[in-house]
Amino acid sequence: MKKILFSLAMVLALGTVALAQTVTVAAGAVGQELELIKAAAQRYMDANPGVTVNVLETPDLATDRLGLYLQFFEAQSSEIDVYQIDVIWPGDLAEHLVDLYQFPGFAEAAQEHFPAIVENNTVDGQLLAIPWFTDAGLLYYRTDLLEKYGFDGPPATWDELEDMAMTIQEGERATNPDFWGYVWQGNSYEGLTCDGIEWVASNNGGSIISPDGVITINNPNAIEIIDQAASWVGTISPGGVTGFGEEDARNLWQSGNSAFMRNWPYAFSLGNSEGSAVAGLFDVAPLPAGKGSPAACLGGWQLAVSKYSENPDVAADVALFLASYDEQKIRAIQGSLNPTIMALYEDPDVLEAAPFFGSLYDVFTGAQPRPSTVTAPNYAQVSRAFFTAVHDVLTGQQDAETAMALLELDLEAITGFPTGAP
Ligand code: GLC
Repeated sequence: MKKILFSLAMVLALGTVALAQTVTVAAGAVGQELELIKAAAQRYMDANPGVTVNVLETPDLATDRLGLYLQFFEAQSSEIDVYQIDVIWPGDLAEHLVDLYQFPGFAEAAQEHFPAIVENNTVDGQLLAIPWFTDAGLLYYRTDLLEKYGFDGPPATWDELEDMAMTIQEGERATNPDFWGYVWQGNSYEGLTCDGIEWVASNNGGSIISPDGVITINNPNAIEIIDQAASWVGTISPGGVTGFGEEDARNLWQSGNSAFMRNWPYAFSLGNSEGSAVAGLFDVAPLPAGKGSPAACLGGWQLAVSKYSENPDVAADVALFLASYDEQKIRAIQGSLNPTIMALYEDPDVLEAAPFFGSLYDVFTGAQPRPSTVTAPNYAQVSRAFFTAVHDVLTGQQDAETAMALLELDLEAITGFPTGAP
């Protein structure tokens, strides 16, 4: 009898070993992202005792994160099973990702998300990533300071923003020498492509390369607004803004040292969190416009399963769980991360935590995509050429006219596309 029990115990133990599976998720750590995904991974493990979900923290700047991912992909590494990928990457990374439609649940789940994002993540009929959260550039502004200096509401144009930022900055400097008018993302990386495309699109300057494959960036409206943005550096924006990513801008803003900030929705819940100097003192609005209409860059992140994963079934199940209604709801409420599941925009708990999900709904659904689909698999190169050129203008190495003419040549070489008017 003892012997039988012993063997039974052995079989059970071995069975557990064979069944225990580990899935590693490479995830972002901007703002509250890391703590949010760790808590979600724990919920998955509680519900699935045979599975261990590890979280690998990755660099904050999207360009650096892509560099890291490419190292894993090129080595065909099985170390990472699930990748958090940017909305601009499905085309560039397609060869390393599996079609999620082969796993249970994805065909149904895809119906719940914004169709444009599902389409963005679909390459040759394959769903390469399930949408996780979406992003759009927003203008954060200090309601208390606007009132103090007699302004009725947020600026509608970049010219108005300049005037308001300067007035408030001059006034606040009397008591706070560290105060600035406007902070944004000016480092040489993907974030500058986002800020830059917003300036250009809002000034009727197009979207670098049109969706049908025409290089449009070398035009007077684009040149004008990029020169205008360069004039902010060292006047209404700190000289150091040309080294700023999202978190640099947020840290300065959240310590109460700027009147305006361009950032993504995640900065909303952090700005209102305990210990924030601006809690309850700010609101968000669409970004200002140039001679056209305001433009918000479309951002956001998806979950993809690596072709080199040894546990693609479990990895896919983890991705499906993380992107589910309940999980997106938690992230929306705790982290003001915009859901990609449409129904969550009608969920009263979500709207209470982040009222701007409702009031700025059109900004999110009408956001300006970067030219990643049309230029795949070369989008990263296209973007690098753009942000490098814009950065040169911001740092005074070239004027925008020269920089855009040279950029046009670079883009022709990268894509082989024709040039034309936006
Ligand atoms: C945000 C956006 C992402 C973008 C990045 C640039 O994370 O969601 O799409 O590429 O910012 O910094």
